[in-house]
Amino acid sequence: MNVKNSLEKCIRAVVFINCEDDKEVKHIYMKNAKLLRLDLLNIKVAIDGPAGAGKSTVAKELAKKLNFTYIDTGAMYRALTYKAIIENINVEDKNKIVELASKIDIELKNDKVLLDGIDVTNEIRTPSISEKVSYISMIPEVREIMVKLQKRLSDKGSVVMDGRDIATVVMPDAQFKFFLTASPEVRAMRRYNELTSKKIPVKYDDILNDIRKRDKNDTERDVAPLKKADDSIVIDTTNMSIDEVVSKMYNIIANG
Ligand code: DC
Repeated sequence: MNVKNSLEKCIRAVVFINCEDDKEVKHIYMKNAKLLRLDLLNIKVAIDGPAGAGKSTVAKELAKKLNFTYIDTGAMYRALTYKAIIENINVEDKNKIVELASKIDIELKNDKVLLDGIDVTNEIRTPSISEKVSYISMIPEVREIMVKLQKRLSDKGSVVMDGRDIATVVMPDAQFKFFLTASPEVRAMRRYNELTSKKIPVKYDDILNDIRKRDKNDTERDVAPLKKADDSIVIDTTNMSIDEVVSKMYNIIANG
């Protein structure tokens, strides 16, 4: 039966209670059937870790498998950096960057990052953005704006969110918290492969140096340093494939 406003893929009874039209339809789930629809249970999955640990790839796949919304918080800092560059604003000019952040329009739609309605998904991944984004993500007022936005996004149904401060600051109440790591060399090789597959010319050694520099910046900065939450599950992905990592996380969530 096709009922207006009904949800797909559910094992449930549809009951019409004292109503003449279909607006009063009630969906009653069979015992435990709701567990088949984790996406309806407002489950929050936080994934943190250093650059290149595989967070975004894994988070994207995991979200797809669970039918959750994926929120890439690094993309938000990157989009702001990109906007600063195209508007000729020095990324070290704190006041101007904060002003820009306060009126930025970033939308994460499926796998796309929209800045003022324009698709900038590839543009925000270049090495020049990676290099400058650290300055911007170190500004406390910028983080305040971004965290507020991210908290708002996390309240809309079940989500997988990845970043550096997700389990500690943005979603400390997340039911599932993961911290992904991998050796700097493996992380550099992954980023190198990712960029060259997109025809972005890069050198492996430059990427490795950038990763080491960013690790230092991310963990030693005074503002929101990259830190594992006490209750995060650590997964070292150095010798694991994407599928293995995703399966491991999926099983923890589905059995949790
Ligand atoms: O994950 P990524 O490489 O796309 O992140 C880009 C930058 O943004 C990186 O330097 C760390 C920073 N970042 C952050 O400070 N907090 C987050 N929640 C996400 C990213």
